[in-house]
Amino acid sequence: MTTIILPAPGHERLGRTLAQHLGAPLGRVEFRRFPDGEAYVRIASPVQGAEVVIAAGLRDPDPQLPTLLFMAEAAREMGARHVGLAAPYLAYMRQDQRFRDGEAVTSRTFASLVSRTFDWLCTVDPHLHRYAALEEIYRIPTAIAHAAPDIARWVRENVRDAVVVGPDSESEQWAAEVARAAGVPCTVLEKVRHGDRDVRVAGETRDIAGRTPVLIDDIISSARTMAEAAGLVRTVGTAAPVCVGIHALFAEGAEGALREAGIARVVTCNTLEHPTNGIDVSAAFAAAMRPFLRPG
Ligand code: R5P
Repeated sequence: MTTIILPAPGHERLGRTLAQHLGAPLGRVEFRRFPDGEAYVRIASPVQGAEVVIAAGLRDPDPQLPTLLFMAEAAREMGARHVGLAAPYLAYMRQDQRFRDGEAVTSRTFASLVSRTFDWLCTVDPHLHRYAALEEIYRIPTAIAHAAPDIARWVRENVRDAVVVGPDSESEQWAAEVARAAGVPCTVLEKVRHGDRDVRVAGETRDIAGRTPVLIDDIISSARTMAEAAGLVRTVGTAAPVCVGIHALFAEGAEGALREAGIARVVTCNTLEHPTNGIDVSAAFAAAMRPFLRPG
């Protein structure tokens, strides 16, 4: 039984990286758009009897979704044994509750769609907040790789006298683990969100005094969370804060918000391609999906 990696269009680098880690060939996918915008997809490598891994970075997922479904379906029709989704950033995890009447709980619907299309899912640190585990919404086997060990190594090697700071209670799961593995103190702030680009961060900053604050969050989207937290800790740390994000979504205006907040350095994991990528989590990601690819 062989494994083959099929990169979704635009995610060839992710595909190549996974192929190297897994010692598997990289398949060829032809993709173009018809003049009216519809997708043309062709899997140009044989996948008969193979364990197929479709590799995709899910930043801006909506335009990509049909293509992923077309690829998975085509691979099955060509005789693939199983078709898995390797998505280091798992989109649509934030709307995990109906906050107002009529809202779509997109996390559930997205999970249902992925579960109907793929045999398994592997990702890196999904945004688990009100859900305790992916199994609550995904009906297929899932595997999660954790970025904390690689982030902790980076902190140890690059920041002196660090104190890890989680900007909100949701970030505590990542901040606490990184601090523990790096052997540095940790403090967690509190955030109130008033809108997509309007957040307020407050909290106890006593433990930060005299150290270099390393802000750690799972997602940098508008970057308002990081910017607000940076504004608070700048006044007490000895050095300008360093920001570490797992998933570099970087919505429009994010870079500007971070610059204005006086952040010394922004580093992200390579779950989504971005110029700030400086922490390589691809080995952990590939290792997490290996159990799905074992002969069985
Ligand atoms: C949600 O609470 C997440 O953990 C992040 O804090 C959030 O997604 C960051 O968003 P933004 O960069 O737009 O403030």
